[in-house]
Amino acid sequence: MAIEGDMRKGSPARRAGVALAITVLLTAGAIVFLGRGAYDWVKAVHVMAIIAWMAGMLYLPRLFVYHSEAPKGSPQSETFKVMEHRLMTIIMNPAMVIAWVLGVWLAWQGAWLWSGWFLAKFALVLGLSGVHGSLSASVRRFAEDRNEKSSRYWRIMNEVPALLMAGIVILVVVKPF
Ligand code: HEM
Repeated sequence: MAIEGDMRKGSPARRAGVALAITVLLTAGAIVFLGRGAYDWVKAVHVMAIIAWMAGMLYLPRLFVYHSEAPKGSPQSETFKVMEHRLMTIIMNPAMVIAWVLGVWLAWQGAWLWSGWFLAKFALVLGLSGVHGSLSASVRRFAEDRNEKSSRYWRIMNEVPALLMAGIVILVVVKPF
């Protein structure tokens, strides 16, 4: 089955792993060779990881809307399973790990750890990560045809990551307190 074959040589999951390793190596190289000048480069990679993470966080609940309307066992339902699994494992999980690692480095390096805006952002990011965990559990439930939630529920869930993202970006860019 396509999901089981994801770690094959040349498979999308393997390529995502290689991309993750290259990102980590390049970032580590920037930190070692550029010293404090690495801050803006690391921030740029942090924002790239956020874009990839958020793309998945906004798209996956939309897939769930259509998947919950597809009859269980239908060809559409089986296609959604592969799309959801790949989106989660190849894009969202690696992007979240990169965003977290680099975000924590930025906070430590920029001495932001006790700033009000950072603590508030951190709380919202914990919420966003919790939504990620719950979406991940839902990918497994859909894969086993155990989803009981309606498409209306998934339409509402679709707005939660967008609201959290708006709060997070305002906090980190405007730094109101
Ligand atoms: C995963 C945990 C995260 C941590 C620890 C973290 C921490 C940080 C820190 C310390 C900065 C540097 C701030 C500055 O230099 O002014 C930063 C930049 C940024 N972060 Fe995060 N962040 C995280 C996740 C996120 C998320 C989820 C988003 C958006 C949804 C986000 C969006 C941004 C943006 C847009 C910037 C650039 C801000 C600017 O240059 O003005 N971050 N982050």
